[in-house]
Amino acid sequence: MKIVHISDLHFPTKVPLMSLRWKMFTGYFNYFLRRRKSYPDQLFQSLLNTIQSIPYDLLIISGDITNVSHELEFKRARELLDPILNEKTFMIPGNHDRYMKSAIEPEDYFQKYFGEFLGDKIDENKYLRIKTKSEIPVIGWDSNFPSGIGNASGRIEEEVITNTFSYLRKNSISKYLLVCHHPLWNPMGYEESSHHKMINREDVIRKLKEIPPLVYFHGHKHSNFYKKPNTAIPFSIINSASSTMLPRGRHKSGFHIIDIDPEKLIVQRYAYNDMTFIETDTIEY
Ligand SMILES: [Fe+2]
Ligand SMILES: [Fe+2]
Repeated sequence: MKIVHISDLHFPTKVPLMSLRWKMFTGYFNYFLRRRKSYPDQLFQSLLNTIQSIPYDLLIISGDITNVSHELEFKRARELLDPILNEKTFMIPGNHDRYMKSAIEPEDYFQKYFGEFLGDKIDENKYLRIKTKSEIPVIGWDSNFPSGIGNASGRIEEEVITNTFSYLRKNSISKYLLVCHHPLWNPMGYEESSHHKMINREDVIRKLKEIPPLVYFHGHKHSNFYKKPNTAIPFSIINSASSTMLPRGRHKSGFHIIDIDPEKLIVQRYAYNDMTFIETDTIEY
């Protein structure tokens, strides 16, 4: 099974200033001043071309397609991603797609524009999705919640994990993939503050040991890595953020192609260099 994993696309989209509310102002100006130049159109076009040339079985997009959850951003993201949105696509939201409560209520924009790529609902009350049409079932969690200015932290409720396991047991699923926006682990030098990390990550890791996924896919921290399993965390972790960002300094952006066979996992990293994506060293831990 061949998987392409991209994340944190953060498409640069102009929105009318008059339509921005509260936290969106700071987020929008922050993005315009600091982030916009790092996301050139040419890079995304090259990413699209590269993905379309790969014979993959599953495309995972692990959140943060927008910057401030404005509806125009979702609309444009839907148009830009159109060439790679099909039955092989599986998406989850990131904190920037849940930036404001107005992006969820009265209408959930992520659901409105990408509903057909989020998998089937397996819980009535919590965000818990599954795509069973791929060779190995893939589960999607939503670790995000609208929060105050400067807060990008995440959380997974115990009930989400319990209900995931109930579903897996009921359907005799022992091998599965898990996709969630926030990291469960960071390499040394890439740690996250309490305002950026998944606040209950230790609990989540401890519980996941009961039925560990084959791979935990995430984004959020804009630097690629692949962590192999060990006794502390008995599953692989892959971060492909931010796939549409120019690599700069310590931010090793790009994306991954993952080959899963019953015995092993092969992870290849692709990074943007000289107007095109090329295979490059995987950053392994
Ligand atoms: Fe992001
Ligand atoms: Fe994020």
